[in-house]
Amino acid sequence: MAIVLGIESTCDETAASVVRDGTVVLSNVVATQFELHARYRGVVPEIASRAHIENILPVLNDAITGAGCSFSDLDAIAVSQRPGLIGSLLIGVTAAKTLAWAFSKPLIGVDHVHAHLYSVMLDQPVDVQFPAIGLVCSGGHTALYQLNNWHDVKMIGSTIDDAVGEAYDKVAAMLGLGYPGGPILDDLAANGDAKRFRFPRTRLGRESLDFSFSGLKTAVLYHVRGVPGKPQRTTPPDEQETTDIAAGFQAACVDVLLEKIRRAVEQRAAKSVIIGGGVSANSGLRAAMARFPLPVFFPQRAYCTDNAAMIAGLANEAFRRGEFAGLEMDAVTNSRISREVVAS
Ligand code: KG4
Ligand code: ZN
Repeated sequence: MAIVLGIESTCDETAASVVRDGTVVLSNVVATQFELHARYRGVVPEIASRAHIENILPVLNDAITGAGCSFSDLDAIAVSQRPGLIGSLLIGVTAAKTLAWAFSKPLIGVDHVHAHLYSVMLDQPVDVQFPAIGLVCSGGHTALYQLNNWHDVKMIGSTIDDAVGEAYDKVAAMLGLGYPGGPILDDLAANGDAKRFRFPRTRLGRESLDFSFSGLKTAVLYHVRGVPGKPQRTTPPDEQETTDIAAGFQAACVDVLLEKIRRAVEQRAAKSVIIGGGVSANSGLRAAMARFPLPVFFPQRAYCTDNAAMIAGLANEAFRRGEFAGLEMDAVTNSRISREVVAS
């Protein structure tokens, strides 16, 4: 039995969580910063790192108190060490190293994107059959993975331009809706007519496992503002049209994600599918995957967006194998595990 503290600060959430045995979440504290970034409609790195500095100690204290334990009860300290914004990552990594040193605890560095996949294991009984296909779809990432187990994870496809969550946020901005745009468009889409406007589905090559969302985003922009060189629209979409655009846009995103998962499953003879990241909260995607012919695992909604429980959870796997980092561990802005090299 191991009790692990996880720390997350890769982007704009400062989070800490205590998890027992990799699956039982004893506390899950997230200080979100979105009011600070909302007026810029995106994350401003300098603002994010300052907010992490202010939030990290209260968040850590709340996570420890909430779990009913003390720092000395912990078996290991884990931190999301890659990938992310350097100024943000450094706050979490420094806090984790300081705690590991002060309390003489083993230190574990975790890949944030892999942890999004692991989040399906938290607080729900799940028996993932490997090899599995994993989709991480969030504001910063849209990529497919082959998982042979929790520590053998290879990227097999990724976006060549925007992440799907980023497209949600940008389309919401075009429609004058709030930030983050994903949940707002998702709610609107539920009441819209997805067939009224047909937006493009970019599938790339027939076998491709890569994604592209910039064409879809531009198609929505032209719809809302008018095509350059042609007479421009003079009135913005009304409420009904906005709702139908949301539904049409969501249908295009879901179709593409589903098609890429289907291809990956077929090419890799996978036995199950794991979906994580902020967009895994999407109700259209969940409804579409309910009809998929293999077992499909989504995280509980609290663990879809950035959180530290997934960091502590995945760290438990490293703990069991005795894979610890030294105090020289660095923050890394890019994912260390690069794309699988496909033999030609
Ligand atoms: O995983 P996350 O918290 O941060 C990153 O690692 O990027 O994901 C945030 C993203 C945002 O782009 C947000 O708009 C999107 O997830 N998102 C959603 C939904 N909830 C959050 N997108 C579509 N539908 C949702 N229900
Ligand atoms: Zn994330």
